[in-house]
Amino acid sequence: MEAQLQELKTQALEKIAEASTVKELNDVRVAYLGKKGPITDLLKGMGKLPAEERPKMGALVNVVREEVTTQLEARMVLLEEEAINAKLQSETIDITLPGRPVKTGNAHPLTRVVEEIEDLFISMGYEVAEGPEVEKDYYNFEALNLPKGHPARDMQDSFYITEDVLLRTHTSPVQARTMEAKGGEPIKIICPGKVYRRDSDDATHSHQFTQIEGLVIGEDIRMSDLKGTLSVFAKKMFGDDREIRLRPSFFPFTEPSVEMDISCFKCGGSGCNVCKKTGWIEILGAGMVHPNVLEMAGYDSKRLTGFAFGMGPERIAMLKYGVEDIRHFYTNDVRFLSQFQRTEL
Ligand code: PHE
Repeated sequence: MEAQLQELKTQALEKIAEASTVKELNDVRVAYLGKKGPITDLLKGMGKLPAEERPKMGALVNVVREEVTTQLEARMVLLEEEAINAKLQSETIDITLPGRPVKTGNAHPLTRVVEEIEDLFISMGYEVAEGPEVEKDYYNFEALNLPKGHPARDMQDSFYITEDVLLRTHTSPVQARTMEAKGGEPIKIICPGKVYRRDSDDATHSHQFTQIEGLVIGEDIRMSDLKGTLSVFAKKMFGDDREIRLRPSFFPFTEPSVEMDISCFKCGGSGCNVCKKTGWIEILGAGMVHPNVLEMAGYDSKRLTGFAFGMGPERIAMLKYGVEDIRHFYTNDVRFLSQFQRTEL
């Protein structure tokens, strides 16, 4: 029986050494040390031995069992470690691989132009003011020196909702509202927003478009202040060597009224397709706030004067980016919009 025991031990240790996975080793454990294994059998068979041999044999079986167990546990630690290492190896992440590009959205070209203009004027101390798109005839026309029946109302074909309410045709009603609210105090605002006119849509017209209006009211505000402000604006938006020129024009709410041209940013003034061979590009309308407009809003036009200007971000974006059809801004074709990446401004 002793020889049988030694044989069993040798066999078990061999199998332990051979086991190359945790599962195989577990099988070895069950085969040799389990309830139905040979060592347990031997212990059960002890009863048949003569009484004086039992303690010696019992001790021997225990020694063998302990040794097999110790070896098994040692090998188990080793195999488990190997298994973990293999798993880590196979799941290694190569952190040096370049990442997959993430598609990001970007601001609409009109939003960019509006924000660029806003930022510029904010840096000069202006505040942004907004007003309703559904507007009273009073603020859209009357308070701007355009009484009912005034022929200049025809310059801005309108969408009326009732006789006294319409979709605003320009951002100038925000001027009128702000002046009324400020009760005679100085003002320095920029008003961006959507406006509506009863136009047939084509490459250069849209029934809904964007405007930005500027208004400054204070003591001793003169035409030269307007010219200086517009010159800074032109240089910041279109390049440092831009010249401006003011041409006489007419708006009922300003007197005198002007239109501002900038020297062509493409040809520098020599004549090209952008400036239609004139060397100049028309950008905006402006003028000194008409005394009637000041007085209607409760200002003393002898004490305070002001200038105002209004422009169309669509036109500025079209010129800046060479866009040939205004409708591109509204149809939201991603192929068009994705060309205006953040780095462009
Ligand atoms: N509101 C005018 C327009 O829509 C533009 C403008 C604004 C002109 C302010 C002068 C002063 O045509």
